Amino acid sequence: MMDDKFIEQQGIYLLSHSVGLPLKTAKSIADEGFWQPWARGDESIWNHWLAEIERFRGQLGSLLNSDASHFCPQTTISSSVNKIIFSLTPSKHKNVILMSEEDFPSVAYALQQSQSLGYQMRYIPAALNLNDLDVWEQYLLDDVALVLVTQVQSNNGVQLPIAAITAMAAQRSIRSLVDIAQAIGIIPIDIQQWSADFIVGSSVKWLSGGPGAAFLWVNPDTIEHCKPQNVGWFSHQDPFEFDIHNFRYAKDALRFWGGTPSVYPFLVATASLEFVSQVGVKQIRQHNLKMCDRIIQVLSDDELVSPLDASCRSGTLIIHFGKKHEQIIRTLQGKGVCFDSRSKGIRMSPHIYNSEAQIDALTGLIDNSR
Ligand SMILES: Cc1ncc(COP(=O)(O)O)c(C=O)c1O
Repeated sequence: MMDDKFIEQQGIYLLSHSVGLPLKTAKSIADEGFWQPWARGDESIWNHWLAEIERFRGQLGSLLNSDASHFCPQTTISSSVNKIIFSLTPSKHKNVILMSEEDFPSVAYALQQSQSLGYQMRYIPAALNLNDLDVWEQYLLDDVALVLVTQVQSNNGVQLPIAAITAMAAQRSIRSLVDIAQAIGIIPIDIQQWSADFIVGSSVKWLSGGPGAAFLWVNPDTIEHCKPQNVGWFSHQDPFEFDIHNFRYAKDALRFWGGTPSVYPFLVATASLEFVSQVGVKQIRQHNLKMCDRIIQVLSDDELVSPLDASCRSGTLIIHFGKKHEQIIRTLQGKGVCFDSRSKGIRMSPHIYNSEAQIDALTGLIDNSR
């Protein structure tokens, strides 16, 4: 099993949709790449650190099947979204930003700032089924400039058909922005199968890579149309040119970078990305589905809020125990099961570090507390 590779769990840890557990080796790898060269007073410290960030981009490229140059390191998803919005030229008749009421609020808050540029917000109501392409057909209208599509929605555990939705948007000349925060590391992703303009994600959840190592991906056909407002010397084609009168955007996604970057979070995240690539997302997903199935078996039909169908299921189960909800929650918490609650129910996310024995202990607890 893989649980010996991760730091020891307190109880049964099922919070990978929030913060994945770190690898045991993450600290020493980051020490080696970050602290040691710094402590040596190495003259070429930035060359060294920037090479580490290049490894982060390279690992993202191999995990998601795209070129490293299309990725830009970022601190958070929301700030990436803000940079995207302020890099595009608004048009008078195509000025709607479309999203769902089930998207993550932080990303929506960032998008709402675009109203100062003349954009209008439009929301697909939470009650509509986003796995039904007719809904997208109905909402991807001529006046939509940009659509946000969240691959895995955090409140309901639904996974959306990104290839079909982004293709539909592209056919209508609508730019698409895909949020993969809850999908990367647990759902196999091949960017080449999508028609997305932008993709944003982070390392803190299923990748177990800690906070601060987010990223933005830009389609190479879209990059020339992007003129980010929020820039710094690392957005320059040649950051070390130092000509105050001559700013030129980097040719690739790094034009979205900014000033002096943080380094440490990317070292921690790269160690995790390497591990995930070695194990393979397919294998992680298979284990997740198997563990989820074991939990689903002890639930009644109306207790499972997230989808049953594996093709639109995410890595997270959303469960509501009806009248017994509070009572079962208290029992599970008392026995050291780590999960969280949202309006629709509790969220449980079995990862590769959760053993069958742990899941059996959990299902036993659920059964006995009815
Ligand atoms: C779907 C989704 N998007 C984005 C985020 C986080 O965005 P940020 O990096 O801006 O905090 C989360 C966090 O839970 C999320 O679930």
